Amino acid sequence: MASGLSRRQLLAGAGAFSLLPCDAAPAVAREREYDVPFVPTPHLLVQRMLDLAGVGPSDFLIDLGCGDGRIAVAAGRRGARALGVDLDPLRIQEAFASARIAGVEERVNFRIQDLFRTPIFEASVVALYLLPHINLQLRPRLLTELRPGSRIVSHAFNMGDWRADREDMLDGRRIFLWIVPAVADGEWILSDGRGETYQLTLEQRFQDVTGAMTGGGRVRDIRDAVLSGTRFAFTIDGDSGPLVYRGIIGDAAIEADPASANSGWRAIRST
Ligand SMILES: C[S@@+](CC[C@H](N)C(=O)[O-])C[C@H]1O[C@@H](n2cnc3c(N)ncnc32)[C@H](O)[C@@H]1O
Repeated sequence: MASGLSRRQLLAGAGAFSLLPCDAAPAVAREREYDVPFVPTPHLLVQRMLDLAGVGPSDFLIDLGCGDGRIAVAAGRRGARALGVDLDPLRIQEAFASARIAGVEERVNFRIQDLFRTPIFEASVVALYLLPHINLQLRPRLLTELRPGSRIVSHAFNMGDWRADREDMLDGRRIFLWIVPAVADGEWILSDGRGETYQLTLEQRFQDVTGAMTGGGRVRDIRDAVLSGTRFAFTIDGDSGPLVYRGIIGDAAIEADPASANSGWRAIRST
């Protein structure tokens, strides 16, 4: 898929691509075919990306535009399963060779494939080193196809107004982490476990949630709402002081965290 950007624009517009690619000539020749040129992430930064995303043996990482496969191979060395996709057959050949040398070929695979056509729903971690507009093109799919709680780690480029949950920097290069938020937005009926029910109205913009709880003749705004994957917490200022609600959001219900002090409540989605 051609982006319409020239290589000069890419290098000038993207500080992170200020290093020339290892094989500049072939990349220039292919610039019309590919959305992003091959510029590898330095190995130390790869480790930082995996640290930031907390990649471990229970993960399945997909690197969209994997180049020589170094992120997927490094994930494999941590015991994770991984898949790298790239349009460049030469890169995929290098990636397979590198997985063999690392002894991770049983759990790390590569595919010549357009990243826009790669199914991502099975990934627990998606790695990106692309361009700002490509991240934005991918954003709706990342938000809807990945399971809540999945992580996205990006070298250099953010996701527009989807604020990163965490950021890190190494040698002047930035990395960003997002945790796919559950859908909190909508109307919920909250039973407090003491015989009272309330209407909980939540408004959500990515992981930022605001809202109000209505009941007992009062409307109270929620405050200090934190949504991280499926984990959701907020505070209501009640007559006898602040009350913290901690729970796990599912499709149809928010279940209270049994370990929290306020654990008897449950909310059912009404819209
Ligand atoms: C900046 S490099 C990143 C390589 C690797 N992820 C890393 O961080 O070291 C981007 C890679 O995306 C690949 N690419 C560009 N457009 C693509 C597309 N539409 N589908 C799959 N790969 C693509 C390029 O061939 C290149 O290897």
